[in-house]
Amino acid sequence: MKTIIEPFRIKTTEPIKLRTRDERAEALKAAMNNVFLLDAEDCSIDLLTDSGTGAMSTRQWAAMMMGDESYAGSRSWKTFEKTVREITGIKHVLPTHQGRAAEAILAATLLRKGDIVPNNSHFDTTRANIEFQGAIALNLLCADGLDTEKEAHFKGNMDIDKLKTCLEEHGSEKIPFCMVTVTNNTGGGQPVSMENIRQIKQVVSAYDIPLVIDACRFAENAYFIHENEPGYGDKSLLEIAREMFSYGDAATMSCKKDGMSNIGGFLICNDDKWAEQFRNLLILREGFPTYGGLAGRDLEAIAIGLMEALEYDYQVYRHATVTYLYDRLIELGVPVVRPAGGHAVFLDAGKFLPHVPSDQYPGIGIVNSLYIEGGVRGVEIGSVMFAQKDENGDEIPSPLELVRLAFPRRVYTQSHFDYLIEIITEAWQHREQIPGYRITYQPEFLRHFTCHFEEI
Ligand code: F0G
Repeated sequence: MKTIIEPFRIKTTEPIKLRTRDERAEALKAAMNNVFLLDAEDCSIDLLTDSGTGAMSTRQWAAMMMGDESYAGSRSWKTFEKTVREITGIKHVLPTHQGRAAEAILAATLLRKGDIVPNNSHFDTTRANIEFQGAIALNLLCADGLDTEKEAHFKGNMDIDKLKTCLEEHGSEKIPFCMVTVTNNTGGGQPVSMENIRQIKQVVSAYDIPLVIDACRFAENAYFIHENEPGYGDKSLLEIAREMFSYGDAATMSCKKDGMSNIGGFLICNDDKWAEQFRNLLILREGFPTYGGLAGRDLEAIAIGLMEALEYDYQVYRHATVTYLYDRLIELGVPVVRPAGGHAVFLDAGKFLPHVPSDQYPGIGIVNSLYIEGGVRGVEIGSVMFAQKDENGDEIPSPLELVRLAFPRRVYTQSHFDYLIEIITEAWQHREQIPGYRITYQPEFLRHFTCHFEEI
């Protein structure tokens, strides 16, 4: 059978508001040209993020009714802990309210000023949590990962030679842990191969440096390994995930992604001393270690969601939705990051708008134009989000200027994507009229969420 269908049917619906073009232009103006500041009701197709925006299954909703809301030692906690251990094999499990809370505890416990944390690519909250401790978040993505046009299977891989050089230079004194992010969200949602994870572990082990996996999209990564890495075609996604985690000494997780839930996260580790330190901070910041900022019903929904994300038919369907949009954009000649990522299609804004330089944020031009054209909300992943500062305080642009169209899990159907293709086609045909933007207000950290833009 050629047609891949959604492996579910729809039981509950949520209306989408359809605004006029003038209403959208007005809304964007009121949001200071930053789509993060729009009311969600003013967006028809919301592809801002795949985080916490998914639809839960009937099993998850039913499990929520079974939530045990006891403060300590609840039954829901036991279910959660057992599931996380079953998938990861990691000893200590600490629930958190979302991924960045796990990152904050990890960073605050282990990092000192001047420390270095290598990663294939740090996500923005990971970077911000590391930098907040005065440490340095270092990206060591392989060269293929920076080439948006190259067709290769595992463009999220870390550059092992760069990692070796970094360790030779700084050693374990300066590097309390190394990270690897699966899949590599900021670099196009590209996967990391098992071989690469294994090599990273081998290299850091020689220096006694622990490896921490940013596991947000672990199930999507497992699917890519199953499809494209020799030796894994016969293994279940659960077996692949287990092997991935076997190379980790710890992991941070946002259950808002491959936990298929609207909230939640965890921090896990094997080391008893780390666990004790993490737990102390967890109690201070998140809550008692058997709920960690979550309701018992959330723990139930996540326990089921983590396993549903590992169902093969679900991943086949999920990947088919991403490639459906991706293939049509390729046919149209729209510049996109190749190949299709796990959770999103990434437009190459630099190539889409060659007349808009990095310091005029081409990604913002495209994001705002897709919103005005069709009420589609995407997100810039480029210099607004990731520019660094040189010693004079001038901006060093991000190596890639991208626009991410992230797919909420089990939410939109094929006709939503057909509509989206029409809107992108419209923007592509009128690309020469799309302007650049300047920033008129920005906060110190994570500026993309709240900064204001003005059209140039
Ligand atoms: N790590 C990665 C790779 C992520 O993509 C995210 C979140 C986090 C950590 C933090 O998790 O949101 O639960 O605190 N990414 C979302 C996104 C926000 O839109 O890509 P969180």
